[in-house]
Order: sequence, then structure tokens, then C-alpha cells
Amino acid sequence: MRTLIATAALLGLCAQAQAATATRSGFGQLADGTKVEAVTLTNSAGMSAKIMTLGATLQSLVVPDKSGHKDDVVLGYDTAQEYLSRPDYFGASVGRYANRIAKGKFALDGKTYTLVTNDGPNHLHGGTKGFDKRMWKIDSVSSGTDAKVVLSYVSADGEEGYPGELKVTATYSLNDQNELKLEYRATTSKPTVLNLTNHSYFNLSGNDARDVMGNMVTLHAARFTPVDATLIPTGERKAVSGTVFDFQTAHRVGDRIRDARDQQIRFGRGYDHNFIVDGAAGTLRPAARVEEPVSGRVMEMSVTAPGVQFYTGNFLDGTYFGKGQRAYRQGDAICLEPGVFPDSPNHADFPTSRLNPGQSYVNTIVYKFSTH
Ligand code: BGC
Repeated sequence: MRTLIATAALLGLCAQAQAATATRSGFGQLADGTKVEAVTLTNSAGMSAKIMTLGATLQSLVVPDKSGHKDDVVLGYDTAQEYLSRPDYFGASVGRYANRIAKGKFALDGKTYTLVTNDGPNHLHGGTKGFDKRMWKIDSVSSGTDAKVVLSYVSADGEEGYPGELKVTATYSLNDQNELKLEYRATTSKPTVLNLTNHSYFNLSGNDARDVMGNMVTLHAARFTPVDATLIPTGERKAVSGTVFDFQTAHRVGDRIRDARDQQIRFGRGYDHNFIVDGAAGTLRPAARVEEPVSGRVMEMSVTAPGVQFYTGNFLDGTYFGKGQRAYRQGDAICLEPGVFPDSPNHADFPTSRLNPGQSYVNTIVYKFSTH
């Protein structure tokens, strides 16, 4: 009996020691005095994720390398105000519509909506003041098997030109298996379009600051959506086989990124394309694997979304100084942004971005870290 009690106590202790914890803290204030908060999720395997209320942004993500050395593997800034002063969606929750809408126009039930054009002739990432620049509320914080934070934002009817009041939540949770799960949910008061995603810029070398050209990338995608010169999909779904877009088996990012014989590489200045994830959208399935050979860090991403935008930081030009005053240059990061396809409101045969009242929108992303 005594042994039983002792074993039970020991098991209890172990469970406690292994629990993942969520800690709430301040994260400074914006120039206008608005206070920003953060929640840090920490697990017992050495990982931690800091999420701030501005933009429901993944501000830092600390992951051990193969020798157990911990580093922050996402680009961003040290202070909240910099995310507003030099915005580039670092780690942000992007909405209402992540990626591009051609000419900032779409029609819904016979009515045309006009959005701001903030990327040449097109609308990008929700407009001038998208979800990345909004203050989200912390709804709940909890520790346990998963450390979890739920953030919410209510986007007013007509905000940035989009119809319907949209109620959005972003739930980040971290478990002891080094899985960071992110789930976006939304409901609307009127038919609308949306595409919520996270725009983390991953550099798995961490503070060693190598570029990502040597990263080995696998994309579970047999097809991608080619674009025009303004990065709007042409409507085609093209097989990747035989092209520089074939990442069905692991390839170094840098091996083919300069192959200017491929017009798509010229248009994107490298990779900036939506890949159609194999398998059935709506079910969580593998989308991508990234391996940084020196640190040995590996990230595997599973998604429910139909597509993933693979972007290699092509527009980082060395004028943005991030955490620790480090200049971010072209090819310094990999973004993998799961969502519906770009410009889907203008492509009837793309997976729909429409949400009706009474429906629930869900986009689930799991980032699993390990070492090789
Ligand atoms: C887009 C890029 C853009 C980047 C930062 C990505 O989702 O595809 O073209 O430069 O976001 O805004």
C-alpha cells in the first residue's frame, strides 16, 4: 500500500514537472501609450513561444538544437512599436485576407467590394491596417499537458472594406512533444471572404544567422499555382515535376532559386508561390519539412488548409534591423503560410474563401520541432 502511495506521489510529481506552463507578462507599450501584453508558453523539453497581443504575433520561438543549445528561430523585433513602425508581418496573424486580391476588388452576391491596393496594383495581407496591426485581447491562459493562450479580435463590419462583423480567435498551444499548434477560428455576421494565417519567418539556424539557402525543404505538394508578374495566380494548377518547384523530395533551397530560365522564379524573385498541399483540405496532413543541417533543427508542418505559400524572404533588403540589431537580408528566412489560394475570391474554381453567417471558419497549423 505504502509503495502504491509513494508511486502515485512520484507519478504526480513527474506529471507536474512535465507540465507545460503559460506565463503572462507586459511587453512594453506603443508610441501612443497602448500597453502590449505577452504570454510565454514553455514546455519541459526546452522550447518556449512568446505571443504578443499586437497582431496575435509569435514574437519569439526558442528551440533547442542537436546539442541542446537554445535559440530563437523566428525573425522579429525586440519591441512592440517596431512591429508597427517597420511592419513586415514578422510572426503576425494576418487577415482578413492573407496574400493578394487582384486589383483590390472582389464580388459577392452581385455586389463589388473595393479594398485598398497596397502592393502595386493589388491588395495584400488585409490592407493598410490588417489584423497584424490590431490589438488582440487575451481571452484565456492555461497550463497543463498543453500550455495555451486564446486571443480574440472583433473586426467591425466594413473594416478595410470587407463586409460583415468578423469575430476571430487565435489559439496557440505548446506541448511536451515540441508541437506548437495554432488554430484560427472565425464567425461572421454577413457573407464575407477571409484567409487567416500566420506569417512567421523561420530561420532554424537561430542566432547563428546563416541564411536559409542551405536548408533542406520538402513540400508535400504535387502542384502549385503559377502567378503573373504581380504575383496573382493565373488560375492554372501546374504539376511541379520537372520544374524548380519540385520539393516532393528534399532539396536545398538555394540549389534552384536563381534559375532565371524559369519565368516563375523571375516573377517571385525566388520562391513566393502557393503550393497545393496533397490530400484532402480540412484534414490535418503533412505540408512541409525544413531541416537546417548545421544546428540539426527540423520543423515539420501539418495543415488543414488547401495551400501553403512558400516565401523565401525575397523582399528583405537589409534595411530592416531585427532582434539584437541584426540586419535582415534576402534569403534570411522561410515563410510557410497555410491558407486558401491567393486571390481565391476572383477564382470560382479555387477552394472557397467565403464564410456565411452560421458557419465556422477553422484553419489549423501544427509546427513540430525535432533534431536530426
Ligand atoms: C508574400 C510576399 C510578401 C511577404 C511580406 C508574403 O506572403 O507572398 O510577396 O513580400 O508576404 O509581405
